Amino acid sequence: MTQTEAKELAGKRALEFVKDGMAVGLGTGTTATLFIKALGEKVKQGLSIRCIASSDASHDLAVQLGIPITTFEETPTLDLVIDGADEVAPGLALIKGGGGAMLREKIVISSAREYIVVADSTKVVAHLGKFPLPVEVIKMAMPIVSRRLEVLGLNPGQRHHPDGSAYITDEGNFILDCACGEIKDPTKTAEDIRHIVGVVEHGLFLGMATLALIAGENGVQELRP
Ligand code: A5P
Repeated sequence: MTQTEAKELAGKRALEFVKDGMAVGLGTGTTATLFIKALGEKVKQGLSIRCIASSDASHDLAVQLGIPITTFEETPTLDLVIDGADEVAPGLALIKGGGGAMLREKIVISSAREYIVVADSTKVVAHLGKFPLPVEVIKMAMPIVSRRLEVLGLNPGQRHHPDGSAYITDEGNFILDCACGEIKDPTKTAEDIRHIVGVVEHGLFLGMATLALIAGENGVQELRP
């Protein structure tokens, strides 16, 4: 089974959790995209739902597929969010933001009763930190935030596109990817980063996921916190 097939399988399993009448948060990234496409098929077959997306890309895809969109004014509480992750550690501690959408993802997830992670089995780790931890930063504050992250030993580096231009998030901010290695105390690291003025959000998602659907050669495994 390829990694894409595994992502697709996780996304298809997640469909089983989406019921008629639900308000659903849509994630961002390759796995979430496969889920949104499968969800679009269900909507065509008559599933009645309304959604809020966590990025412009996922929003545009949902609109293109005819998935009804809602807003936080109309729907302040979502029933569930289906979204991917870059790393899934015990307790469903996650690193997210490889796709640069962790700010809106965290907003969407924080408004939901449930967050189901969809991922292929390569995302499961014993400890967080092999995947660089993304930190979204206000442009003006980049030099000072970068220095403070260095002092914390987090080894930040600005994210760029392959053509060398700076990566800019949907909210117009920069991203510093922290190649910090194993994060021994994710709660403390999350607090340390949050206290830096100029940081908008970081990619540590702790105590947020309620279930993970992990797909691999042996089918879909369900992990709980
Ligand atoms: C987007 O910002 C991320 O949080 C994604 O959820 C994460 O990067 C997983 O992406 P893939 O499904 O593309 O691996």
